[in-house]
Amino acid sequence: MSAATCVFVLLSTLCGSTVVSGLLHRPTNVHLTSYNMDLVLKWGAPEGAASSVVYTAEYRSTVSNYRAGCVNISHLECDFSRLNTSISQYGKYSGRVRAQLGAESSDWVESNQINLDKDTVIGSPSVSLFSNGATIDVSITDPVFAVSTLRNAYSIATYNITYWKDGQEEKATSLSNIQQNRVILSELDLWTKYCVKVRINTERNHKGSNPSRTVCERTTSNEGVPWVAAVVTFVVMAIAVILVVVTVVYRKSISHFFCPKDALPQHFKEYLLAPPNSSMYLVTCNSQPPEEIYHQVSIIADNRPVEEGCASETEGTSFHKQSDIAVVER
Ligand SMILES: *[C@@H]1O[C@H](CO)[C@@H](O)[C@H](O)[C@H]1NC(C)=O
Ligand SMILES: *[C@@H]1O[C@H](CO)[C@@H](O)[C@H](O)[C@H]1NC(C)=O
Ligand SMILES: *[C@@H]1O[C@H](CO)[C@@H](O)[C@H](O)[C@H]1NC(C)=O
Repeated sequence: MSAATCVFVLLSTLCGSTVVSGLLHRPTNVHLTSYNMDLVLKWGAPEGAASSVVYTAEYRSTVSNYRAGCVNISHLECDFSRLNTSISQYGKYSGRVRAQLGAESSDWVESNQINLDKDTVIGSPSVSLFSNGATIDVSITDPVFAVSTLRNAYSIATYNITYWKDGQEEKATSLSNIQQNRVILSELDLWTKYCVKVRINTERNHKGSNPSRTVCERTTSNEGVPWVAAVVTFVVMAIAVILVVVTVVYRKSISHFFCPKDALPQHFKEYLLAPPNSSMYLVTCNSQPPEEIYHQVSIIADNRPVEEGCASETEGTSFHKQSDIAVVER
């Protein structure tokens, strides 16, 4: 055995014995948190703890005893909402944790108590914008909750939508208590970039949600309706696809049609290639166009009053009821 190994063995025996003989220190900074309705206990390592310390965390509601959460874990947090689906969105919870090293355990450290729906931090909604001429469509997606959903947990959840011209946030316009998750911002200036931020308001969680990321979009002109272009493009594409499919499916028949396998009989070809001798063809080719035969027609004014019932046709002459002009054919 080398000297270095001897020193190492001696040191580790000494250190181990001090921990085992003394009381294991308790975890520090224990606090229960909730983000988007999860339930997470967080803590710090005990003073002077060895790296091999493990932790056991438990939680309870006001109406139950402690339940197992995480057992013998080495990291410094435990997400109870991932372990157990029996957590209620309206529950009031607290947690506790203790450190363990070998057979030795620290005392339990209790956390703060939280009301899940009141105290959870509601995450940011996600916002997407769609510019449509002089208006901007805002569509809002709620944050995903670990337990329940936003609409389920809060009977009244509304959006505060703030929008402003890019670079003029101090002149922002706010729309509050919006219930729908799709809103159209109208009466905007044309060809202008607008930015939008959304927060969720609830009656029981007074903090409101974290604000969404700021998203910006530019308005265009009144006429520029992008969906018309989209529809036209779609139709053109669809026709092109159909043509391609038809060509592929009927390629045999099409190639037969243009390049027939069976050759024309020789006498047929000769007939088709021979100079035409039809008299009609020769006439149209050689002579001037035939003289057209027509009747001369002249128009004379007719000043006789037209009476009801006698506007009928006379021999060679026709009257029109409403006109003063008769056409005489000679
Ligand atoms: C979850 O909670 C139920 C009681 O509602 C309990 O019986 C069960 O052991 C718990 N599971 C975990 C993993 O903590
Ligand atoms: C946790 O560690 C303790 C002490 O080492 C041990 O007695 C217990 O069986 C362990 N529990 C689990 C679930 O591993
Ligand atoms: C939403 O707007 C209302 C009215 O302006 C205001 O009272 C409320 O604090 C706002 N909520 C958030 C979360 O910004």
